[in-house]
This record gives sequence, C-alpha cells and structure tokens, in this order.
Amino acid sequence: MMKMSENPTVALIGPGAIGTTIAAALHEVGRTPTICGRTAHERLVLRDDSGSVVVPGPVRTDPAEIKNPFDLVFLAVKSTQVEAAAPWLSALCSAETVVCVLQNGVEQKALVAPYVSGGTVLPSVVWFPAQREPDSVWLRAKARLTLPDTPATGVVLAALRDTRCSVDVAEDFTSVAWRKLLQNAVAGLMVLTGRRSGMFTRTDITELSLAYLRECLAVARAEGATLGDEVAQEIVDKFHQSPADLGTSILADRQAGQPLEWDCRNGVVQRYGRVHGIPTPLSDLIVPLLAAASDGPG
Ligand SMILES: NC(=O)c1ccc[n+]([C@@H]2O[C@H](COP(=O)([O-])OP(=O)(O)OC[C@H]3O[C@@H](n4cnc5c(N)ncnc54)[C@H](OP(=O)(O)O)[C@@H]3O)[C@@H](O)[C@H]2O)c1
Repeated sequence: MMKMSENPTVALIGPGAIGTTIAAALHEVGRTPTICGRTAHERLVLRDDSGSVVVPGPVRTDPAEIKNPFDLVFLAVKSTQVEAAAPWLSALCSAETVVCVLQNGVEQKALVAPYVSGGTVLPSVVWFPAQREPDSVWLRAKARLTLPDTPATGVVLAALRDTRCSVDVAEDFTSVAWRKLLQNAVAGLMVLTGRRSGMFTRTDITELSLAYLRECLAVARAEGATLGDEVAQEIVDKFHQSPADLGTSILADRQAGQPLEWDCRNGVVQRYGRVHGIPTPLSDLIVPLLAAASDGPG
C-alpha cells in the first residue's frame, strides 16, 4: 500500500540545472530536501529575472551517510549518469519510496527501475530550460512538470504544492512525453552545428527540422502517442520564437566535452522505428553523428 504523506520526506540526487531548480522551489517554501551529488557544494544558487534563491548545503557526496529511506526521491542526473548514481538510489529507496525521474526521454521507468529497491518509478516531463553557470543556475522560464496520472503522483503533488514549480497531471502521458521527446530530438541538431536556437530561423534548417520531426512523429504514433501533423510545425515555431541564445542541455554537454544523451533523445526514434518497420533515414544520419560526437573514438 503506497504511503500518501502530506509532508513526505524528500531527497534529491543531482543538483545540476534541473536539480537546483527543484531544490530551490522546495527550499523557498520550507521543505528543503536532502541534497545528494557527485561534487561537494556549500550551497546551491538559483537565479531568474526576479532575483536569486540560495539553498543551504552541504551537498552530500557519500551515500553511506544516509541512514533511512525517503518517501520521495527526485532523480535529476543525466540519463547517462543513472548507473553511477545507483549507490544513492540504494541508500535512499525502499519499496515504499517514489522516485520521480526528472530527465528527458520516454524510457525513464525502464532505465531507473533496476536501482530503486522495489520502489515506484514515476516518469516526468520537464518543460523548463535551466542553464548551469559557474556559481549558479539560471532558470530561463517558469518551472513546470507534467506527470502521469498514477497512485504515486500524489506524493509529488504534495511535495511541490504552493511552490514555484507547477505540476500538471496528464491522463495521456504517453502523448505528452513523446511531444517533448520530439522537441528534444530536433534540439539535438544544435549539437551538429554548435549553434543555439537562433539557427532554426534559417529556411534550410526549418525544412530539415520539419522533415526530421515528421519522421519522429511516425515513430511516436506507432508507440501509442496521439499527435497530429501540426505538431511538427508547432515545435519549429517554438524554436523560432525562442531567444536566439537559448541552448539545450545536450549542447551544453557537447561544449563541455561531456557524454551526450544521444540515445534517449535521438537514438530512441531510430530504435523504435526499427521495431515497427518504419524507415528513419534522417535518424540514420543524425544518430551516428551524435553518438560519435559523444563517445568517439577519435
Ligand atoms: N537543463 C535543462 O534545461 C533541461 C530541461 C529539460 C530536461 N532536462 C533533462 O534533465 C536531466 C538533468 O539535466 P541537467 O541539465 O539538470 O543536468 P546537469 O546540470 O548536468 O545536472 C546533473 C547533476 O547530476 C550530478 N551527478 C552526476 N553524476 C552523479 C552521481 N553519480 N551521483 C550524484 N550526482 C551526480 C551532476 O554533478 P556534477 O556537478 O558533478 O556534474 C549534476 O549536479 C537530463 O535528462 C536533461 O536532458 C534538462
């Protein structure tokens, strides 16, 4: 039976761009989470147009310090870092724990479930852009998550109630998650040019993006997403309206020489395309280039 505490105990793994935003949202309302990371920090700082929030640390770096499991764990490491974060998940989770995964992709449950000691994995869609800077995180839009409508969702709603992070609950989460995946997939083109959102105003990049999005849409529909043809144009329109200097976390990783989330953001379309017998000629070009940029060799 799932415990539905109104004041769940909350831990957060991965105090990067997204993790700092959620930690600050909780701290502002007096629900500071236990923060678990890879790198020690005395404090976390979130800034936006209206000012900044300082979340007192320390960021814990040793899972052995954790003596009891938590009701709710937010997991905000990259999908490429889940295995390395497994000792944190073992220390923080029991069969009663809900692990809310704050990551891009449509495979969060399968990726994280092996590490949560029988706890419940709750996927999410993270809608807001946040950018790491040397001593702070820059939140570039209003914080917003979408969660599936499940019995576990209540614990996240309780933790984030009355915070700066709004939470929508979607009956058709599959469609919402694939829509975001399409946005992420096309944002991956920024890695191949080394340019930010401004590049989408080029006619040739607009045409390429629309063709790639139509390919992704066919796969998304085969996976059960209900998304109309208009979605491709809507996503491109959103890039046209974005600040020209707005990046994406996969571009930030490329520029920092870090491994890329190419598989969960782009490879997934090619993989599921193969399962469903859907040709993916653009993915067949884009995915190897992203994979090689991420993993080399060379
Ligand atoms: N940033 C965005 O705008 C955005 C928007 C929507 C979705 N997302 C998705 O959200 C997820 C998180 O992205 P992000 O941009 O927040 O990444 P990020 O800034 O790189 O944050 C990841 C955090 O995890 C920490 N970490 C790495 N390995 C760890 C380990 N073994 N144990 C504990 N902590 C560990 C990192 O520590 P270090 O400080 O040592 O690196 C860092 O604090 C990704 O799936 C991304 O695609 C991001």
